[in-house]
Amino acid sequence: DTKTPSLYGAYEGIFHIGAAVSTRTIRREGEFIASHYNSLTAENQMKFEEIHPEESSYDFDAADEIMKFAEKNGMAVRGHALVWHNQTPDWVFEEADGTPASRERVLERLHSHAHAVMSRYRGRIHAWDVVNEAIEEKTEAYLRETKWLTTVGEDYLEQAFRIAHAADPSAQLFYNDYNETDPIKRDKIYRLVRSLLEVGAPVHGMGMQGHWNLHGPSIDEIREAIERYASLGVRLHITELDVSAFDFEDRRSDLLAPTDEMQEMLTQRYDDIFRLFREYRNFIDSVTFWGAADNHTWLDGFPVRGRLNWPLPFDRELKPKPAFWRIVE
Ligand code: XIL
Repeated sequence: DTKTPSLYGAYEGIFHIGAAVSTRTIRREGEFIASHYNSLTAENQMKFEEIHPEESSYDFDAADEIMKFAEKNGMAVRGHALVWHNQTPDWVFEEADGTPASRERVLERLHSHAHAVMSRYRGRIHAWDVVNEAIEEKTEAYLRETKWLTTVGEDYLEQAFRIAHAADPSAQLFYNDYNETDPIKRDKIYRLVRSLLEVGAPVHGMGMQGHWNLHGPSIDEIREAIERYASLGVRLHITELDVSAFDFEDRRSDLLAPTDEMQEMLTQRYDDIFRLFREYRNFIDSVTFWGAADNHTWLDGFPVRGRLNWPLPFDRELKPKPAFWRIVE
């Protein structure tokens, strides 16, 4: 449709508009993706287990293909993610006999991994999610109890940022997390990034994942989180934006398409959200959707198996939804 304006074009000079992609989606609908997004994140294909499944073997094929596609189309790339409790192979934390690896061994492995991955893409990936989802949210504990924490110790985040900075001094380094607008978690995240900055760790940005839904968080809660993180003096990226049609209380699995009411709510949500982002354009450099269109979203089947979801501005046929028009207007 020649009359459809470009999504990223509408935000040129304001912030990047990105999408999470895979080799499958860029092969299948590369032209669509390149016409609406000027930034890419690999949804899975730069994660530790994908790139470095065994200690002695790396597999860069998929990541290279995504990089090449981005460069051919003049798009920015965000690296995701170096240190995370998910999608990281067990060998990282174990000796050959299955006993827990020492702190030194795990840090050595992180060092090799970060240098291999970040130097391969040095100067081409401008921002890296160095640590993902390290805050505990279910209990009053501060850090999530991950294998990174139990093998390395509390300073694993500081070490990760220092290692990543040495591996690519030109990359902007991010701490990235979800439920980032929840007041209790928000304050823990704030405290974490502040303490990293206090010890001189090279943290340049805060990634707000933005996995939100039709009901919440409220615009005021999002605003408060943006202001609090921005007060640290770091850059802000919205890294994984989507607006789920359901909150976690609503377990209906019978819907095959969004109701009119849901469609209207989505449009209004995206309108409010992008208005807010534009207000904070001096702090926000990049807004990435976790997917390019509703035909491929991790929210299909999550958290309820078999249930569909419609969280993005383009529908399953890649056609702009009313939410798209509100975002570009
Ligand atoms: C998700 C992917 O979208 C899925 O395909 C995969 O099965 C699991 O990971 N927070 C993150 C992302 O930082 O890496 C996650 O991506 C979604 C939640």
